Amino acid sequence: MIEQEMIEEILIPENQIQKRVEQLGEQISRDYQGKQLFCIGVLRGAIVFLADLARYIKVPMVFDFMSISSYGISTESSGVVRILKDLDENIENKDVLIVEDIIDTGLTLDYLLRMLKSRKPASLKVCTLLNKKERKKIKVPIDYCGFDIPDKFVVGYGLDFNGLYRNIPYILVLKPEYYNKPMDY
Ligand code: IMP
Ligand code: MG
Repeated sequence: MIEQEMIEEILIPENQIQKRVEQLGEQISRDYQGKQLFCIGVLRGAIVFLADLARYIKVPMVFDFMSISSYGISTESSGVVRILKDLDENIENKDVLIVEDIIDTGLTLDYLLRMLKSRKPASLKVCTLLNKKERKKIKVPIDYCGFDIPDKFVVGYGLDFNGLYRNIPYILVLKPEYYNKPMDY
């Protein structure tokens, strides 16, 4: 799946991710008791997390997906958010939970929240696996967070670099020579 020599550091091993995802699922199940959850997975990064998380959620739920572009092929946020695929369903009066892989500057989430709020859901919350606190360019509300991580570009468990490494079951930092663009990390 990945050569050992490409790995700079394993930031979060698989067992820690699984344990935390289970806790998040339990917390969400308690908070949404008696309700039906409408989960929005943000493509493509969140699908691995959402697939695992969903199996720990014990309240009735549906998924829908949205695809937005915030990054091109580099590791830096462009600040430009474009909808590539919108939701299939109407979210009016629904209890909506946005599921994200990572919140970095917060620009993508801020845009998404404003757009979804205008569609008048009954409630709107955010669940992210990872959060890079130090990188925020804008204040965003995060209701459920798996891990706060340092300012490093990570891959694995849904997160990619140029589309690759999403299938790795843990979160890692690649050696700099494998990020084929100069970075400010
Ligand atoms: P934001 O708008 O800066 O918060 O960017 C969020 C998006 O940037 C995420 O959904 C990811 O697609 C991407 N991203 C940010 N940091 C990383 C990282 O360390 N690895 C992989 N993708 C990242
Ligand atoms: Mg994403």
